[in-house]
Amino acid sequence: MKLWTIVKSQSEISDDQKNRIKALYEGVFLQPQVSGIATVSANKVPLLHLKRKVGTNWEYSSNLTSVYLNILHKIATAGTTFKVKNALLTGVGKGSICVEVVKGLFSGGAHIVITTSRHNRSTVEYYQSIFQTFGSRGSALTVVPFNQDSKQDVEALNGREIDGIDNKSELAHCIMLTNLLRILGAVKGKQASRQFLTCPTQVILPLSPNHGLFGNDSLYSDSKISLETLFQRWTSESWGEYLSLTGAVIGWTRGTTLMGLTNIIAHKLKSYGIRTFSAKEMAFNILGLMHPLLFSITQDEPIWADLNGGMDRLPDLAEITTRIQSSLMKESDLRRAIAHDNATDYKILNGVDAECLIQTVDVLPHANFRFKFPDLETQETLINVTKLCDLIDLEKVMVVTGSGEAGPWGNSRTRWEMEA
Ligand SMILES: NC(=O)c1ccc[n+]([C@@H]2O[C@H](COP(=O)([O-])OP(=O)(O)OC[C@H]3O[C@@H](n4cnc5c(N)ncnc54)[C@H](OP(=O)(O)O)[C@@H]3O)[C@@H](O)[C@H]2O)c1
Repeated sequence: MKLWTIVKSQSEISDDQKNRIKALYEGVFLQPQVSGIATVSANKVPLLHLKRKVGTNWEYSSNLTSVYLNILHKIATAGTTFKVKNALLTGVGKGSICVEVVKGLFSGGAHIVITTSRHNRSTVEYYQSIFQTFGSRGSALTVVPFNQDSKQDVEALNGREIDGIDNKSELAHCIMLTNLLRILGAVKGKQASRQFLTCPTQVILPLSPNHGLFGNDSLYSDSKISLETLFQRWTSESWGEYLSLTGAVIGWTRGTTLMGLTNIIAHKLKSYGIRTFSAKEMAFNILGLMHPLLFSITQDEPIWADLNGGMDRLPDLAEITTRIQSSLMKESDLRRAIAHDNATDYKILNGVDAECLIQTVDVLPHANFRFKFPDLETQETLINVTKLCDLIDLEKVMVVTGSGEAGPWGNSRTRWEMEA
């Protein structure tokens, strides 16, 4: 009843929204044993939807989903606020989904703590520039170094089947699962030590529809599946009042470090009914999950957000992606052969030199200054200075002469070469 009483008293929630929440509330909380969920055929379920637990299964909830989609619409049109919210974000490298989430949180006025495994000047300046562009009233940024281990090791993990699991695979598993659990444990520990019982921390779990779907990805799917056990542990263990859970099953998100290499095949997946996302779009979906309304709901029970865009509807995805990849390779081989053939024809018909005319040459400016030795003044030009004779005791005067520059880049010429 608590949530509905709060919602009812909020003047900024429209009547239409209140009715939806009431319907949701009746379905979700007042009759927990009754599903209140109409069975919908798989192809009618929206590509972005929320699930709630019914018995031991997670089922599509049309009520929760309509609240979520309504929230996304509201955020897109009127915006939302994250004022006085503190957010801790890991995995916020350039091009990642999380860096787009950061932009949204800054726009909403949140205080963000970013962890980075590459804590150096350029990384800090990168986050600083994001803050300068997107920061709004009340927002603040703290960047802290945090290495769950070596990034290269994680990147070197692709292409491992079960007979190739080595210490690097274990390391990645540790980064994606064990250390993530440790972070949650540390947050819970801090909350418990301060007896923060009525103010849980919302955790957005980065889940994946890839449960071995593609193969060759070492322990990646194992870590992601293991994260799902947190939903059970939320009730079976004792930390539920400190942490609220929202699982985001992230669909195919193009252009990130993880998926960058597969960008080339992403557009072809559309014809198979799969929706792929840009990092911005996925971040927007995730920001919707942080809306105060959904956060309130997660205080009563965890939410499962299925943002996978239909990836799970294709059991033979690995086969499809391999097929697309090999057809693209064939097409590129063909085009290369045609281009080569055309170039050879052109050379034979017009001569080797003719090709030079259509080649563009980029001329880049190059620092190449020449400095002559400066002209020396004659002795006569110093005649005026003779007036100073005997005015000061030259034995006691320090004279500094010379011209030019000495600095970290050498003299002005070498500095200019560095700068140009
Ligand atoms: N992209 C997708 O299609 C997709 C699909 C399903 C699930 N997901 C999940 O969504 C999450 C974000 O994915 P993404 O595509 O945005 O990933 P990403 O671009 O590959 O970003 C991963 C981030 O992890 C951080 N990282 C790497 N090594 C680290 C280490 N040793 N310690 C701490 N941090 C380290 C990096 O940030 P710093 O080095 O700056 O710290 C990097 O920005 C992941 O959990 C992924 O599994 C993604």
